[in-house]
Amino acid sequence: MPQTKFGEINIPSRLLTSTGPVNVHPRVYKAMMTPVIGYGEAPFLPVIDGISSMLSEVFKTKESLCMALSATGSAGVEAGMISLLEEGDTAIIGSYGFFCQRMAEMARRQGATVIEVKGEWGKALPPEAISEELKKHRSVKLIGMVHAETSTGIKQPLDQIAKLAIEHDALFVVDAVTSLSGSNIEVDNWGIDYISSGSQKCLSVPPGLAPCAVSPKAMAAIKSRNQPPRSWYLDLELISNYWGKDHVYHHTVPMSMLYALYEGLRLVLEEGMEERIARHERNAAALRAGLEALGLRVISDENHRLPQITPVEIPVGIDEAAVRGILTDEYKTEISRGLGEFAGKIWRIGLMGETSNAGNVMFLLNALERILPKQGYEVPLGAAAAAASKTLSTA
Ligand SMILES: Cc1ncc(COP(=O)(O)O)c(C=O)c1O
Repeated sequence: MPQTKFGEINIPSRLLTSTGPVNVHPRVYKAMMTPVIGYGEAPFLPVIDGISSMLSEVFKTKESLCMALSATGSAGVEAGMISLLEEGDTAIIGSYGFFCQRMAEMARRQGATVIEVKGEWGKALPPEAISEELKKHRSVKLIGMVHAETSTGIKQPLDQIAKLAIEHDALFVVDAVTSLSGSNIEVDNWGIDYISSGSQKCLSVPPGLAPCAVSPKAMAAIKSRNQPPRSWYLDLELISNYWGKDHVYHHTVPMSMLYALYEGLRLVLEEGMEERIARHERNAAALRAGLEALGLRVISDENHRLPQITPVEIPVGIDEAAVRGILTDEYKTEISRGLGEFAGKIWRIGLMGETSNAGNVMFLLNALERILPKQGYEVPLGAAAAAASKTLSTA
């Protein structure tokens, strides 16, 4: 056989305590080996219907149509903005981190007037800030919020803002890329009109799909637009024709990724949403206790901390990239750097989906305990493991 100059792919496996992607369950990898067949063929369609039904349980909705867009988390958010906004519309977007700013930019690109309501990075946005802005404008078409701000480690409360959206007859749009299946989300009870996520975070599936839910009100708003959405591919109405009962062709869906999502969702439902959320909370609490015992400071407001992402201040004099480098080279472990305002100031440690377990917490704390003194930052030996272990045994 003729040889090629290109070598085989050779990627080492790592512990992914980063902001994502996270470690993938072996059952999900196995599901990806399922044969590829036609997207409209009878044996494949139960996979589509199964994903839609399982997502309804995870999003807690009976009213919205649940789908998985063939694209990453960013496209999920953008599909909402593209499909719901057009020129002349006004949108209010809460802005308290990197991904909020992106959402606002996506809204602006639709030609809408965008009011970015700025909050403090590392804190949740008080609902009063949105309510004040609503008083100033006669007609607001959409209010957009990021539920789990991955750049700051903040969980934004949504219920009060959802009520404001209902009172002002605005569509309520949520980025749940980092929260879905790691934090409670109640699409019907809270009145969310469009919500989207990513497959690579708490669902523990490889990146490439954006699960979402579209309410009847959002679908009606798309149907009554003056002009069709500027993107054909991300037009949620066209995509819904495939995910609805008639399964009308829109594009060739990536079936191997859909097999993965199907299995990932089965794992979520087998564990149970409550237990899964409790697991995320428990392991994050242990990690925080351990980090604090090392003398490190978790910068997110303790009233609104995300269990998925722990943002840690980098001690003075420490080379943040060097620490991450040693973690990957010697410990085969990834953590993430800071983004935007927090670039160079924090590390972000992720515990999501498969990665969120007690063993990983202990391993990472132990690695930091060994690495930090080599960087000139002395730590009390054994304190992190003791604090984390105490938290785990009392949680
Ligand atoms: C809150 C949030 N929104 C959007 C995105 C973008 O998702 P993706 O990178 O899958 O496009 C991310 C990615 O980390 C995120 O954390």
